Amino acid sequence: MRIGVLTGGGDCPGLNAVIRAVTRKAINDFGDSVVGFLDAWDGVLEKRSTELTVARLAGILPRGGTILGTRRGSPYDLPDGPAQVKQNLADMGVDALIVIGGNGSLWVASHLNEDVGIPIVGVPKTIDNDIAETDVCFGFHTAVQIATDAIDRLHTTAESHDRVMVVEVMGRDTGWIATYAGIAGGATAILIPERPFDIDDIANEVKRKHSRGRYASIVVVAEGAMPKEGTMPEPRYDLDPFGRPRLGGISVEVAHAIEERTGFETRVVQIGHVQRGGTPNAFDRVLSTRLGIAAVEALHAGECSTMVGVRNEQIVHVPLSEVVGKTRHVDLSLYDDVATVFFG
Ligand code: F6P
Repeated sequence: MRIGVLTGGGDCPGLNAVIRAVTRKAINDFGDSVVGFLDAWDGVLEKRSTELTVARLAGILPRGGTILGTRRGSPYDLPDGPAQVKQNLADMGVDALIVIGGNGSLWVASHLNEDVGIPIVGVPKTIDNDIAETDVCFGFHTAVQIATDAIDRLHTTAESHDRVMVVEVMGRDTGWIATYAGIAGGATAILIPERPFDIDDIANEVKRKHSRGRYASIVVVAEGAMPKEGTMPEPRYDLDPFGRPRLGGISVEVAHAIEERTGFETRVVQIGHVQRGGTPNAFDRVLSTRLGIAAVEALHAGECSTMVGVRNEQIVHVPLSEVVGKTRHVDLSLYDDVATVFFG
């Protein structure tokens, strides 16, 4: 079999580990050949690719980013995009694709299979951890560790100056990183998209903590968090070239409102793309490796529209049609029964 691999959407620690595992498993165990498409779907549409061999991929396991490059566009942005993908794969002798991507890339994968019959296996990738039908996405635990390390450092400077630190983390539609890093970092409050917040409640949590003689607080806010209607002006965002709100900056509004309501000096830290860069942690290296191997096995088992994921520590194969169009939100019992116990 000749397998094509691509990485789509935002980058994420562990992408190279998946590419390495796919290549090793396919070549060494099945005698396949593997071609990597450059810059996601652009590479398929423009026939830009690179031959992947075991020797070429030596040393990429711990490397962040993706050696193949990534983009957010889709063949469905072009009227004949899906047909062109099919034609180009046929021209290049590619029998099947492994698509390593988030909700957007998996949507494209599912539709390409339905519309033009390309055999595709998806591998769930995103630091946001919001893909349905898997317990975890690779990259998430690395991002949580980076955010937690940042919060640990912010505690000492906040304590030295008696300040409130509002720490913004990624999380477009879900508050997974905020919830995990907030719990791990001992946050005074955590703001997530799943629970619209009342800024007065948050200010009161901060005051409650300071009334006990602890004059520093960390408030963690996911970039996609929203105030309850009518409690604070809703943030407005420009759109990126793909029509998605370019998030970032809610922390500034939150910090301003907290300072105004409490009188405590408040600072803002946006961790931003630091969360996505650099080496994957050990957990994500193992997860990426397992998923890469499972993707090749799925193709050889004749699965032509599947996502490989993890359920209760076991690898699962799920039809792509059951994955797309859904968002895996934060387990609210984790938020309500664990995180909030430490608020204020
Ligand atoms: O990968 C998902 C994500 O991290 C979101 O949380 C964030 O909104 C987005 O990527 C930002 O990505 P970019 O700056 O690459 O558009």
